[in-house]
Amino acid sequence: MTKVGIDKISFYVPKHYLALDTLAEEKGIDPEKFARGIGQNKIAVPSHDEDVVTIAAEAASNIVAAEDADKIDTVLFATETGIDQSKAAGVYVHRLLDLPSRCRVVELKHACYSGTAALQLACGHVTRKPDRKVLVIASDISRYDLGSPAEATQGCGAVAMLVSADPGLMEIEAVSGCHSEDIMDFWRPNHRKTPLVDGKYSTIKYLQALSGAWDDFAENGGRAFNEMAQFCYHLPFTAMGVKAHRKLSSINEAQNDQGLIEPGMVYNREVGNCYAASLYLSLTSMLENVDADLSGRPVGLFSYGSGAVAEFFSAVVQPGYRDQLMEHQHRTLLSDRTSLSYQDYVEMWHAPDPHDGLSHITPHAARGRFRLTHIDEHKRHYAAA
Ligand code: HMG
Repeated sequence: MTKVGIDKISFYVPKHYLALDTLAEEKGIDPEKFARGIGQNKIAVPSHDEDVVTIAAEAASNIVAAEDADKIDTVLFATETGIDQSKAAGVYVHRLLDLPSRCRVVELKHACYSGTAALQLACGHVTRKPDRKVLVIASDISRYDLGSPAEATQGCGAVAMLVSADPGLMEIEAVSGCHSEDIMDFWRPNHRKTPLVDGKYSTIKYLQALSGAWDDFAENGGRAFNEMAQFCYHLPFTAMGVKAHRKLSSINEAQNDQGLIEPGMVYNREVGNCYAASLYLSLTSMLENVDADLSGRPVGLFSYGSGAVAEFFSAVVQPGYRDQLMEHQHRTLLSDRTSLSYQDYVEMWHAPDPHDGLSHITPHAARGRFRLTHIDEHKRHYAAA
């Protein structure tokens, strides 16, 4: 049977960030609470001319080479930072990247899980049509109320993946385990810009969902815990991944080896929660931070979306995978950033959301090629530099 999976992967983060030491100082909190307690150093902050469309286009433009663009017949855009109740954000990206018009484009939502839904649907499509490719994009801005306990777990980022037959990076294996349950741990009613969250409860439900998804994975004939070379978890903050791996190790009566998760946390610690993109940022981090050759080795992945849907699945790293990585570009994106003062962060947190239908021009602040230039008659206008 043809192998199907991720051929290329690329992420994008805006240039501005808030150091959590700055937040701790402002709030009079011990900085160790953030650095060790939740395991985060920085949160990426979008400027007013950036949104899920512009950062998605940045991430995807790196992997949509001319020879791939012709074969892409589907764009799946996963986000919970919707910019429109009707039009799919991916359609803007489709135009900005000049993708062929004979293409379907759709937006998917279920909290942080939707990136995995998109990836699995893409694999199903390519299995039926192995000569086609699917562009999967997960793009989100995590913004909680200022002053709330969740404020330190904000972040922002986009990951784009090209799904194809005979992939260069990872084969996504067919066996997976799911767990769904109707709960209120984190949600955002239509009238709110920020989510409501029952923080402690959400961490408990995350771990229960991990257990449920793992049981289903095992019942479906999934690989054994000890076979996995690395594990990547959905990381709302990296200490959640530490808790998750402790739990999964204990379920499997295995040693809790931090070396199996640490490479997958390096980038997330510097970016913060990027919801649907978070697991795939962790996957990129893992691939680019494990020194040993992972060719042929299976990796365990756990996706969690509040509300709640979870899935545990496995992927096999393909020989020659290092040639597909964009490691230098990714490291430069993370190192070449600007630290915000607390006051500048608050100003950027209040992204304009005009309701009057008049013309609103957004000042140029984004570092990338793609920008939200203005909003006019309730229409968003994007441009590529
Ligand atoms: P909190 O009340 O600020 O934090 O909320 P805390 O007091 O529980 O402290 C956090 C940890 O830091 C604790 O460790 C403390 O002991 C430790 P733990 O008990 O967890 O092991 N600590 C310190 N350590 C060292 N030095 C110190 C120190 N002080 C304290 N001085 C909470 C934390 C995560 C609840 C909050 O940030 C929150 O509500 N976040 C948002 C919700 C969230 O991220 N939930 C995660 C699971 S749900 C999920 O992943 C889905 C999601 O991504 C959304 C989606 O699916 O769309 C959120």
